[in-house]
Order: sequence, then C-alpha cells, then structure tokens
Amino acid sequence: PDLGRVLGIETSCDETAVAVYAAGEGILGHVLHSQVDDHAVYGGVVPELASRDHVRKLPGLVAELFAQTGLSGRDIDAVAWTRGPGLPGALMVGAGFARSFAWAAQVPAIGVHHMEGHLLAPLLEPNPPAMPLVALLVSGGHTQLVQVAGLGRYHILGESLDDAAGEAFDKTARLLDLPYPGGPAIARLAARGNPGEIDLPRPMTKRPGMDFSFSGLKTAVLHCFRESCGGANEQRRADIAYAFQEAMVDTLTIKCRRALQHTGCRRLVVAGGVGANARLRERLDQLAAGDGFSVHYPSLEYCTDNAAMIAYAGYLRLNAGGGDNLDFTVRPRWPL
Ligand code: KG4
Ligand code: ZN
Repeated sequence: PDLGRVLGIETSCDETAVAVYAAGEGILGHVLHSQVDDHAVYGGVVPELASRDHVRKLPGLVAELFAQTGLSGRDIDAVAWTRGPGLPGALMVGAGFARSFAWAAQVPAIGVHHMEGHLLAPLLEPNPPAMPLVALLVSGGHTQLVQVAGLGRYHILGESLDDAAGEAFDKTARLLDLPYPGGPAIARLAARGNPGEIDLPRPMTKRPGMDFSFSGLKTAVLHCFRESCGGANEQRRADIAYAFQEAMVDTLTIKCRRALQHTGCRRLVVAGGVGANARLRERLDQLAAGDGFSVHYPSLEYCTDNAAMIAYAGYLRLNAGGGDNLDFTVRPRWPL
C-alpha cells in the first residue's frame, strides 16, 4: 500500500522514457524522447550514440514529468527501471539513474524485464482482461507466444527461431529502400499496393507448432525485388510491401489461433511495436469475432517502447513482494 506511486525508467534501446503509475489511478504522466531521427541516417540503432543520448536526456525528462504532473521526488514511493533485455550501455544509463534516484529518495527500486513490461501494457487500458491469457509479443527484438497463468507465471508456447517480427519489417524495409524504423514505413507503402500481384510464403504454418521463422520471408522479398527489376518501379515496391505485410500478418494470426486452441484460453493480448500494425489488428479482430475470443491491445503510445509499461510492471512486482534495492547490474540478454 505504501508503494502506491512508482516512477518508471526505460532506456533499453533508442527511446528515453519516464512515467509515473499510481495505484487506483493509472498512469499520471509519461514523457518520451525518441532518438529515431538520430539513428535513421545509419539505417538502424547505433548503440554508443543511444547510450550518450540517454545520459543527455534522462534527467531533463524526469524534471519535465514532475512539472507536468505537479509531483516531486518526495511523492515517489518506488522506482522501476528496465534491467533488460536491451543494449548493455543503454540499459546501464537507466540502471545508474534509477538506482541513484531510489537511493537519494530512500525508496525501493526494482529492475523490470522489458518484455514483461510489453506483456502487461494491454492491462493499462480500460476493462483489462483477466488472467489466464495468451500474449503475442512482437517487437524489434522478440517474437513470442506466451501462456500467462498469472504475474510472473509465463510459459513460452512458441518463438522466432531467427529474426523477430519487427526485425523482419526493418530488414525488409531496408531492402525496399525505406527508412528506419521499417514497420510504419512498410505499412504506409503497403496501403498503395495491389492484392494478388505477389505471393510470398507463410513460414512454418504448414507444420504443427507455434514457433516462427521470418528470415526466409526476407530472402523471398529480396529475390522478388531483384527478379522483377522493380527497384525503380514505385508500384512494384508497393505491391511487395503489401505482400510482405500480408504474409507477416497471416503467419502471426495463424499462430495466435493455434495458441488459443492449444491452451483453451479465450483471451489474447498483443503487445510490442509490431502490435501497432493496423492490418494485424484488423485481422486479429476478425479472427476474434469468428472464433469467439477477446483480443486486447495497448493504446498506440504504449505499444512501442515507453516507460508507462515499466512503471506498471514494477508496481505489480513490488507489491507482489519483489524488489532489489542495491542491485543495478543489467541483463542485456534475459529470457522472460
Ligand atoms: O517494441 P518496440 O518499440 O521496441 C523493441 O522492444 O524492439 O518495437 C519496435 C519494432 C520495430 O522493428 C518497428 O519496425 C516495429 O516495432 N513497428 C511496426 C509498426 N510500428 C513499429 N511494425 C509493423 N507495423 C507498425 N505499424
Ligand atoms: Zn520494446
């Protein structure tokens, strides 16, 4: 009960974000600085630049959050920060800041699993689903179907054997000469593509199981791009983007259906950056209506990286007895 207001700190990749979650009230405020423009010129995230920018931005963002919410350091009961997975240097910036803040304020701190944050983000919305549920986690670094029995009780039903879903979007975007991040760029170009022009595989859907593999899809796009000599042809690029998005969305939808059938669960949550994809949401909504299950998404701002989900996950963990006050080691690779 004393841990009612939790400050969340997220610095695992190229977003510096801070937020406050309050018991019974929800997110009181959240502030985010995206480095996406700094990295776009390099076609992907440059780890050293990310760390340096987190150092520059983090203190100012916390000041901005406090100004916005009318809170001060004294109003914070605990600090939650992203321990991993993520870029080591980037994580260490958040770890050092969060631990120092908690020490100065004499409040507990907890290092949160980034993907647990994503997984719990849909529960920040009105009318959150109860557990048990199935979670589709689709981000730039992870693609997993998780059976969720309760907080911290996660069973991996399937995951990507190679590229993550977001990574597949990003790499395919690069092939098509689209900017980073690739997901939104492909979605925009796909809107101008024609159905039925190009047929791409739905990897690993013919055999049983809930694992994914997306690297072959990327290669199929490469062949298609070269064979059609479509590099200069704008319509052809749009057709490829359309076909790629359909193949991705189809594959994800098929595996979600399998996971729900396998577990007997009637609730699906979708989280992570790729969960922002409008076509994916449309297809999952259709499936849910037909099969009679409910599907829940975070609002778009909590789909991609943010600190609201970290504050919330930290709040739940701390009040379930978690906490690791003096520990600020990061875990760049950390299984869920
Ligand atoms: O969860 P997230 O913000 O960061 C990680 O934890 O990785 O996910 C970022 C990923 C990127 O690969 C980006 O291309 C993808 O999410 N993404 C999308 C969309 N918005 C972001 N992919 C498909 N459609 C989108 N609308
Ligand atoms: Zn993420």
